[in-house]
This record gives sequence, C-alpha cells and structure tokens, in this order.
Amino acid sequence: MQKRVLSGIQPSGELTLGNYLGALRRWVSMQDKNESYFCIVDLHAITEPQDPQDLRRRTRDIAALYLAAGLDSAKSIIFVQSHVRAHSELGWILNCMTPMGWLERMTQFKDKVAKGSAERVSVGLFDYPVLMAADILLYQAHLVPVGDDQRQHVEFTRDVALRFNHRFGDTFTIPEPLIGDTGARIMSLSDPTKKMSKSDEDPSGTIALLDPPELVRRKIMRAKTDSGTEPRFDDERPGITNLLEIFSALTGKSRAETEAHFAGRGYGDVKRELADATITALEPLQREHQRYTDDPAELDRELRKGCERASVVAEQTLRDVQEKVGLR
Ligand code: TYM
Repeated sequence: MQKRVLSGIQPSGELTLGNYLGALRRWVSMQDKNESYFCIVDLHAITEPQDPQDLRRRTRDIAALYLAAGLDSAKSIIFVQSHVRAHSELGWILNCMTPMGWLERMTQFKDKVAKGSAERVSVGLFDYPVLMAADILLYQAHLVPVGDDQRQHVEFTRDVALRFNHRFGDTFTIPEPLIGDTGARIMSLSDPTKKMSKSDEDPSGTIALLDPPELVRRKIMRAKTDSGTEPRFDDERPGITNLLEIFSALTGKSRAETEAHFAGRGYGDVKRELADATITALEPLQREHQRYTDDPAELDRELRKGCERASVVAEQTLRDVQEKVGLR
C-alpha cells in the first residue's frame, strides 16, 4: 500500500543546509513511492514577528527551492499552508481538545521563552504544535520526514490523534516521525553546541542554501573546531563531529567510511573537502532556483494547483471531524 507523507518548512528565514539535509533532500527521494504533501507553513512563521513583504518573498522563494531541489508537482502536492483554510479550522477544533500541560512540556517552546521574556511570546507560538498536528492529521499522513528537532512535535501529534480517536471513534491515521540516520541534526558552524537555524542572527554559523560559493567556503574554513587533530566522531569534540556529519550526509558515506576517508589527515583537509562537497551540492540547486524565480507566474500556477488538490483531501477530513464533534 502507498503511504501518505506530509512535511513542511517555515518561511521564517533563509533556508539552511540543516533544512536541506534534515528534510528537503530526503523528501525528494520519498515522492516516487508515496502520496506526498509538502507545504510552506506560513501560518507557523507568523507566530513570531515577520515583515509582510519578506514573508511573501520567502514563501515564493521556498516554493522555488522545493522545485529546484527536485520536488515535482506531477508526483507531489506542493502548497502554501494558509491557502488551505482547513488547517486553521482543524487547528481550532484540536485546540479545544488539547490540555495546556501538553504544550507546556514542549522543549522548543521552553527554549524560546528562555531566550526572550514570556510577555513577548505570542499565544500562537505556544499553540504552534497544535497547528502542526492539524497539518499532519488533515492528510491522514503515515510518515512525517523531519529533522531531529521536530520529533517531539510529531510525538505530540500522535497523542492528539489517539485522544481524538478514543473519544470520537476512528478518525485520524496515527503518524510516525521519519528521521534520517545522518544529517538529522546539523549544528551551527560558529557554535557547534547549538542547532544550525535559519532564525540565527549570527550568519557565520549558518550555510544558507543560496549563499554564493566563496561565502560557503569562507564560512566552512572558519568553522569552530576544537584542539584535537585527528578527524573522528566524538561527542566531546562537537566542532569536528559536526563537519564530519555534514560530510557524511552530503556524500552518502557512513560515519565509519567518513572516518576512514580522513584517516591520517588533519582538520584543514576536512574543511577543504567539505567546502568542495557543499559547493558541488548547492550549485545545481541554486541554478534551478534562479530559473523558477525568473518565472513567478509559473510558480504561482504551481501553488494554486497544489492548493486545489490539497483542499479536496483536507476538506474531507475536516468535514468528518466537524460531524463527529457536533458542528454539523
Ligand atoms: P522548520 O521550518 O524549523 O524546519 C524545517 C525542517 O528542517 C529540519 N531542520 C533541521 N534538520 C537538521 N539539522 C538542522 N539544523 C535543522 N534545522 C531544521 C526540521 O527538523 C524540519 O524538518 N514545525 C516545523 C514545520 C512544520 C511541519 C509541519 C513539519 C509545520 N507543520 C508538519 C512537518 C509536518 C518547523 O518549524 O520546521
């Protein structure tokens, strides 16, 4: 049986190598065998302040990157979350069935609150996992390919679905997170104890997918490493471990093969080869991205088509839920 797959990325910053290796690249290989839905989650992006023009530009930009990376609208349904109203509507219904305590336990929310004051954090940010549950459950997805940081949100979605099914009868498919063996947690180049993140204010730690080759090389050559000399995966040495991890994910080599590849060589060699491998991987992506960016009308047509196809499926689930809850 074909499985249904759903995943998404927030247009809250420029996409990074972490987004590519942890998510986007893996989606491309899944679309041949599965019924796949990939969205740009703009409603999630506005849980934190966004400049309206930037948000609009990034939404298109990410759509162009999805296509440039190899997502194909003949195989996958590619759409913008806010275009399909059922996401907000199911989100509200699920809100009313979700205990506050479940959301208070979400580590990503706790981290964000720890960084800013609780006064400035929006209700939307607190509630964000419920909207993510709606994204997944509307399409009855079996599999959710994500990076490691989203594991807890998919587990939360399972809990929401199980609770609903228990109370109202079988309604939602219980989804599973699908997390890669390599590349699921790419760390910042300037602080390898922190995740590489598109919302990082320090650009030196982040490789953006559209960074020009010279900049990619400079950032990698300046990446923070530790005092060791031998390139090995080692929890005590997060800097070199992160560079080796990126190399493994980009080249498809296992960790053991990567260590063997660099045996007897120094950190400088790792950085040079990693810069080459990254530039080579990004070159076709950047070229194709430009092609889609040059034709925004075509991009909009793709997104309109995606919205129409996604809406049919989403509306069906929403109607079922409304009936079960007593709203119809
Ligand atoms: P977002 O936009 O933060 O990230 C998009 C995807 O990229 C992965 N990722 C990483 N993987 C490896 N290393 C990193 N440093 C790294 N940074 C990000 C994320 O795990 C994710 O897979 N809440 C989600 C978006 C979302 C979603 C959904 C995902 C909304 N609805 C439904 C799946 C299904 C988010 O903020 O991802």
